[in-house]
Amino acid sequence: MTKVLVATDKPFAAIAVKGIREVIENAGMELVLLEKYTAKGQLTEAVKEVDAVIIRSDIFDAEVLDAAQQLKIVVRAGAGYDNVDLDAATARKVCVMNTPGQNSNAVAELVFGLLVYGVRGFFRGDSGTELKGKKLGILAYGNVGRNVGRVAKGFGMEIYAFDPYTAAQIIENDGVKAVATMEELFTACPVVSLHIPATAETRKVVNYALLSAMPQGAIVVNTARKEVVDETSLRRMFEERSDFKYLSDIKPDIDAELAAKYPDRYFATPKKTGAQTAEANINAGIAAAKQIVDFLRNGNTQFQVNQSV
Ligand code: 3PG
Repeated sequence: MTKVLVATDKPFAAIAVKGIREVIENAGMELVLLEKYTAKGQLTEAVKEVDAVIIRSDIFDAEVLDAAQQLKIVVRAGAGYDNVDLDAATARKVCVMNTPGQNSNAVAELVFGLLVYGVRGFFRGDSGTELKGKKLGILAYGNVGRNVGRVAKGFGMEIYAFDPYTAAQIIENDGVKAVATMEELFTACPVVSLHIPATAETRKVVNYALLSAMPQGAIVVNTARKEVVDETSLRRMFEERSDFKYLSDIKPDIDAELAAKYPDRYFATPKKTGAQTAEANINAGIAAAKQIVDFLRNGNTQFQVNQSV
């Protein structure tokens, strides 16, 4: 019988697992569950005899792929697939997919949770500021960026976006001002929300030149990836700009240092929380299960993100 493994270090909500199970079992396949595992060895053991795997931010590298001799497809239930070694998967004829858009509302809502927490002085009771009327810069107008723009309208923010892969007209049709460069975005907006994936091209792209160009009352919200921010620049901004705040859903490598030195201006969630809602888990998990069934039965590769051989 075809076996589908759900391997999640950070588990889906139980209701999402139930939905995934229904899709897999209704297709006549068997669901195998590995949740909250603590060692890579548990993952390499669990993948041994399965045909398909659903993961989240779980590291899926060449070693894991080598252990998965029967594997045909791995679906990252979520947007970013920087945790999967795409070349190694291609070399082993394994299809890799993601589930774009399925968890983006959850991430967008967290942006505003972090923002309100930040502008209200981390709820310590001091007088803060409001978001209404402030300029918000959205770095990358993809699925999450668009949802951030939608919610920002409710707050009465003035919205700007930079996205080299989206036509300016598409951005402007949403009532969002499209800017031509990242420099323009950071120069115009005291609040910037990051929504770029971690790739070779985006690594450390948020650097001192951009950060230091931000107007007074600068706040950067990172619900994307830690790799996109240059941490030396981040440290320097905290040292030089007493108005600067950084609110993140991913702990930077210098988390302990920033938390100790700047408790009023730096906050990172204890665990990555953006996509951790029942709704996002259901959407992404069930989409992943359906994509697996459609791939194994019909060869549908619509959401494939690696090269096929
Ligand atoms: C994503 O890329 O989809 C988000 O970063 C969510 O990641 P998670 O599934 O590990 O919470």
